[in-house]
Amino acid sequence: MQFSKTLLALAAAVSAVSAASVTFVTLDDETRTVYFTASAGLGYPDIDPITVSSEKNTTVTFPDVYNGKFYAIKESQTTDGQHMLGEVTFGGSESTTFFDVSAIDNPADKDNVKEMYPASALTPVSGCPVFPCNNAYYHPDDVQTKATSEVDLITTLGTA
Ligand SMILES: *[C@@H]1O[C@H](CO)[C@@H](O)[C@H](O)[C@H]1NC(C)=O
Repeated sequence: MQFSKTLLALAAAVSAVSAASVTFVTLDDETRTVYFTASAGLGYPDIDPITVSSEKNTTVTFPDVYNGKFYAIKESQTTDGQHMLGEVTFGGSESTTFFDVSAIDNPADKDNVKEMYPASALTPVSGCPVFPCNNAYYHPDDVQTKATSEVDLITTLGTA
């Protein structure tokens, strides 16, 4: 039985290494809930909403292959509707990770999802520390999707 336990541990370690992730780093004193929406009809699992704050960085694990978006709402915020979006594709063409911050739905949502970048290289960056900027999607034909070979991304929330 020791043998199969070792195999199981090995399998767990391998999947932990290859799983994709987004770590949410909150730069202000707000508590936010992040909501995830997978692209419809492609069989991606639902990811539960999470509550995040500057008390700790929270890492959300994604499937190796996934396409979807997320947005954040402050606890103090009562309005709902459209949001600044973080968009991710893990396991895209040639195993590449694609990501961008999109202001297309609501460019006025300037204080939630801010910037996205690979956890290790820290570049390229999509989004802006202060909106508006020319580093996010404002129009459907903006060419702002960033690509990285890393599978772990950082997303910042709020203003430092
Ligand atoms: C979260 O991560 C950022 C950058 O990766 C780091 O500067 C910060 O100290 C971390 N915050 C906590 C609470 O660990």
